[in-house]
Amino acid sequence: QSRRWNVEVQSKSGTLAFTCEPNENLLYAGLRQGLTLPYECATGTCGTCRARVASGSVAVGWEAAPGHKGLKRDKGDILMCQTRPQSDCVLRVPAHVHTSPRHAVPRHHSAVIDCVRHLTQDVIHFEISLNDPMSFDAGQFVVLRAPHLQGMRAYSMVNFATETRRLELVIKRKPGGGFGNWIFEASREGQTVDVFGPLGRATFHPEENYDLLMIAGGSGIAGMMSILSRAVQEDYFSSHKGYVFFGVRTLDDSFYLADFSEHVAAANGNLEVTLAISDEAVASPVHPGHPHVRVVEGLVHEVCARAMKGRYDNVMSYIAGPPPMVDGALRTLIIEGRMTPDRIRYDKFG
Ligand code: FES
Repeated sequence: QSRRWNVEVQSKSGTLAFTCEPNENLLYAGLRQGLTLPYECATGTCGTCRARVASGSVAVGWEAAPGHKGLKRDKGDILMCQTRPQSDCVLRVPAHVHTSPRHAVPRHHSAVIDCVRHLTQDVIHFEISLNDPMSFDAGQFVVLRAPHLQGMRAYSMVNFATETRRLELVIKRKPGGGFGNWIFEASREGQTVDVFGPLGRATFHPEENYDLLMIAGGSGIAGMMSILSRAVQEDYFSSHKGYVFFGVRTLDDSFYLADFSEHVAAANGNLEVTLAISDEAVASPVHPGHPHVRVVEGLVHEVCARAMKGRYDNVMSYIAGPPPMVDGALRTLIIEGRMTPDRIRYDKFG
């Protein structure tokens, strides 16, 4: 099909419309045109972008997407991030949808991979150079697709910059991870990838004036590095506190330690970074090569719960990592920290 389709969105806030290019999914088309469609992962896992097709025909890309769980497929329920229209459509979206100038509007870009380096055995830092500049909030992510691979994968930016062509990203190898395996199995510098973004609402806004609590597992630390970069650039820690809890299995699985050390040194005693080590005994309370970084044995949300007792006032918290880790951290913050949902921003990725 080579024509563009008209899509009408009926939401709790009224009716809006957008157009969808051939082979473009509904979510990216709507976001690109400034609609605040509901989403979290943008890649088929969370189920947040559900909608019901009231009229028109559609094609679903990834039938086995975990986000389909609980949807009434026979009634026309779809995931907007996995569905392309095949005709003009009317969608019912069970959320408030507006057009909002406050959200950075994501766009399609192409980019070239460079600066690939191993951080640990199964974690790679890589950078991409965009064909045109992008501005993003600290804590946001992009989705990438490699040539000849199905589906988009989400990666949070590690750096923070405005109007930049350069995005720094981190990837952890996972069994069955298409893009992850692709980048690990051969040198990919110079390869072109499709990029859509920026996406994500787990973002840092200095004007909100909160102390920052960051809880991350594995490559979930990416977005926290971006938040720390922005905070340090703006001297945020001269008047606010920051607490970072980074969960890894062993000391050898940790990375970005030199960056943490620099940030702690710049923060005048107002930034604490703790590595939570889940799968080996801890010999020293500080990292042997990076004395600014504390090391504690345990699961990251448990280590956080012990350290943060009584320190949750005026805190905005950020969580990112695999779903069980994020769920554990959410329970800690809600039950022990008595934090309300408006003070918790998180990204779950499978
Ligand atoms: Fe579509 Fe998560 S946003 S499933």
